[in-house]
Amino acid sequence: MDDHSSKHRLVDIHTHMYPPEYVDILSSRTTIPLVRTFPSSPDPRLILLESEIPSLERALADPDAPLPGRPLTKHFTSLPAKLAFMARHGIDTSVLSLANPWLDFLPATEEAARTARRINDSFEAMCAAHPGRLFFFGTLPLTAPPPAILESVAHLAALPHCRGVVLGTGGLAGGGMDDPALLPVLRALADAGLPVFLHPHYGLPNAVFGPRSASGEYGHVLPLALGFPMETTVAVARMFLAGVFDAVPRLEMILAHSGGTLPFLAGRLESCVAHDAALVGKNHAGAGAEKGRRRRRTVWEVLREQIYLDAVIYSEVGLKAAAEASGGAERLMFGTDHPFFPPVGEGADAEGEWESVRLNAEAVNKALGDGSEQAAMVMGGNAVRVLRLYDDA
Ligand code: URA
Ligand code: ZN
Repeated sequence: MDDHSSKHRLVDIHTHMYPPEYVDILSSRTTIPLVRTFPSSPDPRLILLESEIPSLERALADPDAPLPGRPLTKHFTSLPAKLAFMARHGIDTSVLSLANPWLDFLPATEEAARTARRINDSFEAMCAAHPGRLFFFGTLPLTAPPPAILESVAHLAALPHCRGVVLGTGGLAGGGMDDPALLPVLRALADAGLPVFLHPHYGLPNAVFGPRSASGEYGHVLPLALGFPMETTVAVARMFLAGVFDAVPRLEMILAHSGGTLPFLAGRLESCVAHDAALVGKNHAGAGAEKGRRRRRTVWEVLREQIYLDAVIYSEVGLKAAAEASGGAERLMFGTDHPFFPPVGEGADAEGEWESVRLNAEAVNKALGDGSEQAAMVMGGNAVRVLRLYDDA
């Protein structure tokens, strides 16, 4: 493929699927995450989030209560549906990822590693059947014993269509992304050239959103619009404070939803670090680092050296902030978050155009200039370069 055509391809780096092996696991569960059939619904329901527990309990107690979660449509599970969605929106290439909560909930046994292998092999087979059109971010068995996690990284590194891993913010057994025990995994990923696509799932405690949200009055709005981005922001801030980016300087992160609120709050985070007595003198943080020690990098520098942001932000204002914070449009990559946020309401047609996709594409074009070279880079050129698409697959 010549350079010009690959630079102008439309690439979706934030697009999820649940392969059949994964749906089977969710269907066998009685606590979230789970898939469950209700008599009043043709599609099974997919119930993922802590904030969906109150509505799940109401639906189990009362057959007339609104259904919990979201319908598990073919858009979540079917490869032909994914390819049709791509064709409808002019998407040349998708980098698929397992959707949340990945394998975070599996019991802490070797079996978790076997499950990860099955699911990663399933993604590899889907991609291999559509050369040049599909790549994927693999999934790691983070509850498995550490050697098995490292074996899983090695397995992914050898799969021809794997271009990174998708991780939640929980780290190993909920210790978070700043847990020193996670460092060997992050080092192995960096050494293998596999970027981490960091994606939220856990949000904020339900209490933050109040009783009217818990009663279902506000739907999923607050956990998804605000809880998810704050979770990502906190996870990256914790990594920064722990010095993870200095400890693993070749680690590359791609942050979902344009980094949560990080582009907007990086200045405040940087200021709080610089003014916090607890951090002065630490290698990675604190203005008073001793002579001879490497000057600590600022949040801004880390954003421009080790972090990429997706462009799933739905507005020109957010997109501009993301571009500025990450040092220019060359660190942003278009995404759709398909199959979440389908068209809803009267006359909505999930087989037609998805407004969520249009808003993200419009944000890029408005912020960077319709038809501009910068917009073309965000829409695909950056993904081709950063994820080495088409190099060898
Ligand atoms: N988008 C996702 O990726 N996951 C969710 O659970 C909801 C929206
Ligand atoms: Zn997503």
